[in-house]
Amino acid sequence: MPDKIIPEKILYSVTGIFDHPDEIINAAEQAEKAGYKKYDINTSYPVHGMSTAMRIGPSKLSYIALVFGLSGTTLALLFMWYVSSWDYPMVIGGKPYFSLPAFIPITFEVTVLLASIMTVVAMLFIFFKLPNNSHPLHDTDYMKMVSSDRFGISIQASDPLFDEVKVKDFLQNLGAHHITPIYFDESEISVKNTVFEPKFIGFLLAVFFATAGFTYFSLNYILAWGPFNWMWNQHKLNPQKRSELFSDGFGMRMPVEGTVARGYMPYLYKGNQAAASKYMINPLLPTKEVLSMGQQKFVTFCSPCHGYLAKGDSRLRGQFPNPPSLHSEKVRNYQDGDIYHIITEGQNTMPSYAKQITREERWAIILYLRALQRSQNAKETDIK
Ligand code: HEC
Repeated sequence: MPDKIIPEKILYSVTGIFDHPDEIINAAEQAEKAGYKKYDINTSYPVHGMSTAMRIGPSKLSYIALVFGLSGTTLALLFMWYVSSWDYPMVIGGKPYFSLPAFIPITFEVTVLLASIMTVVAMLFIFFKLPNNSHPLHDTDYMKMVSSDRFGISIQASDPLFDEVKVKDFLQNLGAHHITPIYFDESEISVKNTVFEPKFIGFLLAVFFATAGFTYFSLNYILAWGPFNWMWNQHKLNPQKRSELFSDGFGMRMPVEGTVARGYMPYLYKGNQAAASKYMINPLLPTKEVLSMGQQKFVTFCSPCHGYLAKGDSRLRGQFPNPPSLHSEKVRNYQDGDIYHIITEGQNTMPSYAKQITREERWAIILYLRALQRSQNAKETDIK
């Protein structure tokens, strides 16, 4: 008893050879006319007009590019949304957390990256069925002829209209010679897709480790050798780094004393609280918007030390000297200019907040502080 059934020879296609490019164009047109769908033309060089004769539509590859391009867009946007507005929201340059214009370049890049890489991968592994490179036409006299100077047509047995005798007649009538049936090899029938073959996966892994290893080695070692490391030794100073050049050791420098930023008036009452108190007037009115801005800034910049109600109940738990209450006689009787001056220049241990808080915000904070003071020292007339 045979332990393995040896299959009969299975027909793949019937092929015919032509000598002239015009004949093969005609053959393609006739095959279309006869209604054959599964046939192919093999020529030794690109023959003009062939795709029209065979009525080949645009490649379906573009759909793959579209799908993966859109996935790239979605992935990139989702990722950036997750990172910058969900997981670690951070205000950068005053932009909203999800700042679409800033995300466009990355979105574009990822879209193009995914579309192009996946198009190539799909082309190789789905359309070309690599790494399976076996094909019934390989190693046939037909292939030898069409890859030197002949033109061939191969009508496949899987075509619904296929009938061996009819196809042979059809080719005969077109004037083909060397009309030959082509059969599958046994190996070609059993192995359809070799992507998942251990041999191929092993090959991919080998390529992966070789590339990764070489990249690691070159980036970490070769680039640190001899002439390759030019770019690492630059006469430059990175942010936050020490510098021996300056006596205070700071690499990042403060602007020179007296520097005036474009469009900004310097503070007129430097070191002169009495003058600030006398001449400065709050330009803002205590509207709802102003008070709410003042509240927000007070909570952010003042409340850590002065407490939410400005009673001096610091939340810094002894890391910084507790400030006095801002509900004292003294501060209640301060002019707005006094407080403005203290925010601008600081007072003793309290540092200046001129860099963090704009002028307008300072005035808004003062109005909010006035409201706080009134709330803690309400008079009977306030209730009426
Ligand atoms: C890092 C902690 C800290 C922060 C933040 C802070 N202050 Fe002060 N503040 C102090 C300390 C400490 C004093 C007392 C300084 C002294 O000894 O004269 C003080 C004093 C004051 C005084 C004078 C009080 C007095 O009785 O002389 C005012 C007014 C004041 N701060 C307002 C503010 C405002 C408004 C803000 C927010 C913009 C603010 N402070 C932010 C720590 C802070």
